[in-house]
Amino acid sequence: MPAIPVMSKHKFSRRNFLKYHSAAGLGLVVPGSLSSLPSPLPAINRGAGKPALLGGNPVFNKEWPKWPQWIPGEDEKRVIEVLRSGTWSRKDVVTEFEKKWAEKTGAKRCLTVVNGTNALTVSLIENNIGAGDEVLVPSYTFIATPVSVLTAGAMPVFIDTHPDTFQMDVSKIEQKITPATKAIMPVHLAGLPADMESIMKIAAKHNLIVIEDACQAHLAEINHKKVGTFGHTGCFSFQNSKNLPIGEGGAIISDDEAFIDRCYAYHNFGSGYGSVKPREKESGFLIRGNKLRLTEYQAAIGLSQMKRIEEQTDRRSESAEILNAELPKISGITPVQLEKNVTRGAYHLYPFRYHKEAFGGLPRSRFIAALNAEGVTCYGGYEPLNTMPYLEDTFKSKNFQKSYPREMLEITKYRQRNNCPENDKLCREAVWLPQFVLLAEKAEIEKIAEAINKIQINAGKLNG
Ligand SMILES: Cc1ncc(COP(=O)(O)O)c(C=O)c1O
Repeated sequence: MPAIPVMSKHKFSRRNFLKYHSAAGLGLVVPGSLSSLPSPLPAINRGAGKPALLGGNPVFNKEWPKWPQWIPGEDEKRVIEVLRSGTWSRKDVVTEFEKKWAEKTGAKRCLTVVNGTNALTVSLIENNIGAGDEVLVPSYTFIATPVSVLTAGAMPVFIDTHPDTFQMDVSKIEQKITPATKAIMPVHLAGLPADMESIMKIAAKHNLIVIEDACQAHLAEINHKKVGTFGHTGCFSFQNSKNLPIGEGGAIISDDEAFIDRCYAYHNFGSGYGSVKPREKESGFLIRGNKLRLTEYQAAIGLSQMKRIEEQTDRRSESAEILNAELPKISGITPVQLEKNVTRGAYHLYPFRYHKEAFGGLPRSRFIAALNAEGVTCYGGYEPLNTMPYLEDTFKSKNFQKSYPREMLEITKYRQRNNCPENDKLCREAVWLPQFVLLAEKAEIEKIAEAINKIQINAGKLNG
């Protein structure tokens, strides 16, 4: 049997994730892929047989769907046309992708950029958020969320996590608002919408900009309205693991045409675009900028993936419904709950809480190892971002030293102000199933509960 790497809390990293996914994309033997077994096992090993981690037969002997999906007959024509055309830098195919993504999300405009991280940073910069400003971010998120704030020169302020939904706890937002607060950056974590109704009310009351980090949440909806269209702007990622994968890529959507014109100008060295026009006698580069353009072949890949995203999103939701019905029957397993009025989840991840007490004290890392060994790809997820060294390092930078009073940069005090106990608990307890697992057949999804049951029954042996 191929070794199935264990991605425990300590071992999970973006690098592991990328390594895993690029291997999957190349059709190599990857964790969760049992295709190289010397002889086929029976389809299901029911009940409480010996755990696979201790040498028993795994519950799953089939590969999970590969990600990203590439169907040569359907997907390659456009990409090859672009490659043969010799026009590889941004032109018509990128514009076509942007129009289509704006249509899909229901936004007036869309601008693509090199990745989701820069989509967030440009959104902050072009909303004039920078040195001396505070931006409220959830504590349960990917590093890109606070990093985008720091890159813009602003200060991330962490909001604790709601214990049931794993989203930003809206009841804890207002206590963190100060005269320096300029924006809220909610994240639709796991592709599941944050409580945008409450967030928009708080933002209106305190005159704050809302930049939605929808990097994991392609086509997720609240009351049939797509996430990314509630705030002033919404940001997406098209990185390899995402529900709309290009390898790398990002997008900013907004109904504010002047704002998107400025973002466009910014992503092209500050050249004029749309309403960003030279005044009398002005010429050349007009506003501050950077170079963040998507390429034509990336857009062609994106268009091919966009054709399947609706169907894939529906499939993930159907799988999540099965898991939502089955997993709560197992004591010690608590799936994530949706915020109110969610009409569609994107399920970039399917997260649940693991309570080790119900598994005889079996540590989460051992549970994850055992579930991986049963053939279910899963991870431990995020570690707390509000205490990591990158913050102190940024605070020591010249830009921050010159922009903030000394007491704001004292790391011990920063950590006290940004203490998020509920998030710390979730980081110890969460287990994630990645989105491609949810693309499996119904019968396979139904067996996930069986694999967890098997671990629970054998917890004593596994803990030995
Ligand atoms: C919540 C969140 N925000 C932002 C990003 C950044 O996107 P990218 O990797 O395209 O820069 C990601 C990507 O993993 C993400 O998960």
